[in-house]
Amino acid sequence: MTSLPAMIETKGLSVSVRTGRWLPFKASKSLDILIDVSVALRPGEVTCMVGESGSGKTTFGRALVGLVRPSAGEILLDGAALPDFSSRSFRRVRSQAALLFQDPVTSFNPRQRIGSIIAEPRRIAFAGSTRSEDIAALAQKAGLARPLLSRFPHALSGGQARRAAVARALSVVPRLIIADEPTAGLDVSVQGGVLNLFLDIRDEFRTAFLVITHNLSVARHIADRIVILYLGRVVESGPAAAIFRNPQHPYTRALLDSEPVPDPSKRRQEPPVIGEVPSLAARPGGCEFHTRCRFAQARCRVEPPPRTNVSADHEVACHFPLAEVKPAAVPNLRLVSR
Ligand SMILES: Nc1ncnc2c1ncn2[C@@H]1O[C@H](COP(=O)(O)OP(=O)(O)O)[C@@H](O)[C@H]1O
Ligand SMILES: [Mg+2]
Repeated sequence: MTSLPAMIETKGLSVSVRTGRWLPFKASKSLDILIDVSVALRPGEVTCMVGESGSGKTTFGRALVGLVRPSAGEILLDGAALPDFSSRSFRRVRSQAALLFQDPVTSFNPRQRIGSIIAEPRRIAFAGSTRSEDIAALAQKAGLARPLLSRFPHALSGGQARRAAVARALSVVPRLIIADEPTAGLDVSVQGGVLNLFLDIRDEFRTAFLVITHNLSVARHIADRIVILYLGRVVESGPAAAIFRNPQHPYTRALLDSEPVPDPSKRRQEPPVIGEVPSLAARPGGCEFHTRCRFAQARCRVEPPPRTNVSADHEVACHFPLAEVKPAAVPNLRLVSR
């Protein structure tokens, strides 16, 4: 795929929060949630941000639209850096972006009918028709049948609510859609439908997507590019095909090995081998993954790894990327899942 210039891009984005302020005898400390994250979201491309729970994915999505204030770095909109992180600057981003939250129903007014919810962005922006035929056509695009438009949010199933949220997001066609765990809580049978809908939107409108997921199967379904986060840092990023075929970071490899296998007879027998995610308040020194890495050597415990290019746009932050390990020497790296 030829890469267009980024619609929105972060350079060295970091987010820190103060903690412990409310505890009388404890000094407040700053906790780094994201460190030096550089990600470019391009028109017509789905970028999946993948990492275990707590890796900072949601914070990144929120920081991108100013719902969380970055502490360092830059956000570039169409190549030009936002002058600051004021709400005024982010208003420009938000006017072109739609956010799909994990639980769309909580973002719906329970007393508003679905048709009206979907039409709302058009009413607010005075953009596009709010005639019922046109709203029905919009809903249809998201796979929502017309009779559902007269229902109230609580009367929809999880999958229908997700589709209603997508229809609303498309009401004023956004240049960017940020979807946080878009398939969480949906039946497997409807998950694929929602993801395919994203692909249709990507192709029809050249929308840039940031899809946040802890689930590599989701990324396998829709990602054009993948960004792997670990403790708030990007440990590997690149084209989805390259990441799946040729993962370089032991953490990426571990995530792939932890992917659920649908066919039970093909399920891997080996026990999970790697322990828990460290706390953000006690980041390991050197390479922060060394405490869980099979290949860690002395250097990994003291020296943070540089980011190196595997190919033009495939990057990895590891002293000993897997390319340098003979395939037979790569054991199964499943993570403990709880
Ligand atoms: N306002 C905050 N104060 C303190 N810790 C926070 C705050 N927001 C997020 N965190 C912590 O930052 C980490 C990353 O959170 P999050 O972005 O929600 O991760 P993910 O979406 O990958 O699960 C978590 O450990 C979370 O507890
Ligand atoms: Mg999250």
